[in-house]
Amino acid sequence: MKTPHIGYALLACSALFGLSLSTAASAADVTKLVESCASCHGKGGASTELDVPIIGGYSAEYLSGSLKAYKDKERPCKDTKIDMCQVVKDFSDNDIKQVAEYFAEQKFVRTPQKFDAVLARKGKAIHDKGCEKCHSEGGSVASDDAGILAGQKMAYLDEQLKFFNEGKRPIPKKMKPKLEALGKGDIEALIHYYGSFK
Ligand code: HEC
Ligand code: HEC
Repeated sequence: MKTPHIGYALLACSALFGLSLSTAASAADVTKLVESCASCHGKGGASTELDVPIIGGYSAEYLSGSLKAYKDKERPCKDTKIDMCQVVKDFSDNDIKQVAEYFAEQKFVRTPQKFDAVLARKGKAIHDKGCEKCHSEGGSVASDDAGILAGQKMAYLDEQLKFFNEGKRPIPKKMKPKLEALGKGDIEALIHYYGSFK
C-alpha cells in the first residue's frame, strides 16, 4: 500500500512540539503533557492526520504499556526529528499513568478514510477467522492489552504490521501464528477492512 503523505504532518507537529519539549520533561502538570500530545495526535487524541494514530478511547492499561514500551525502546520509533521514543524518554511512571488515564477518558473519534469495498469484504473474512477472537467486533473494542483497529489510520496499521513481521515490534505469542498464516494480499485486505469503519 502506498502512503505518500507520511512525513509532512510529522514535520509540522515536530515544530509545534519543540516548543513544549522542555516544559514537558520537568513539569508534573498533566495539562501541559497532554497538550504536547495533541500537537500530533489531535485534540483528545482524535487524530485527523493520515500517519498519526488516534489514541483517545484506548484503555489506560494499553496506553501506559505502549508508552513504557516506547520509553524502553521495545517498540520501534520512526526516524523523524521528534518521535515517540523521544516524547516519553524523560517521563516518570506517574507522568505515564496520568497521561494514559486522560486519553482513556476521551472518545475514539474516527475520520472517514478512502478504502476499497471489495478488499474490505475480503479483509472482514480474514479478520473473522484469525483476529476477531482477540480484536473483537472488528477490532472496535479497546481492551486492557490491545488498542482499536476499526477506523484506526490505515498507514499506521500498515506500518505496525510491517514492524511485527520484520521482528521490530514484539508480537503477542498467540497472534504470531495468525500473522504468519497470512498471504501477501491478506494484509492489504485487512487494512482496507479496518479503514472501512466510519
Ligand atoms: C511529534 C509527533 C508526536 C507527539 C508529540 C506524540 N506522538 Fe504519539 N505517536 C506519533 C506517531 C507518528 C505514532 C505512530 C508510531 C510511529 O510512527 O512512530 C505515535 C504513536 C503513539 C502511540 C501508539 C498507538 C498504538 O495504537 O499503539 C501512543 C499510545 C502514543 N503515540 C501516545 C502519545 C502520547 C500520550 C503523547 C504525549 C505525551 C504523544 N503520543 C505525543 C506522533 C507523536
Ligand atoms: C491472541 C490474541 C490476538 C490475536 C489472535 C491477534 N491479535 Fe493483534 N494484538 C493482540 C495484542 C495483545 C496486541 C497488542 C500488542 C502490544 O502492544 O504489545 C495486538 C496488536 C495488534 C496490532 C497493533 C495495533 C496498534 O494499535 O498498534 C495490529 C495491527 C494487530 N494486532 C492486528 C492483528 C491481526 C490483523 C490479527 C489477525 C490476523 C491479529 N492481530 C490477531 C492480540 C491478538
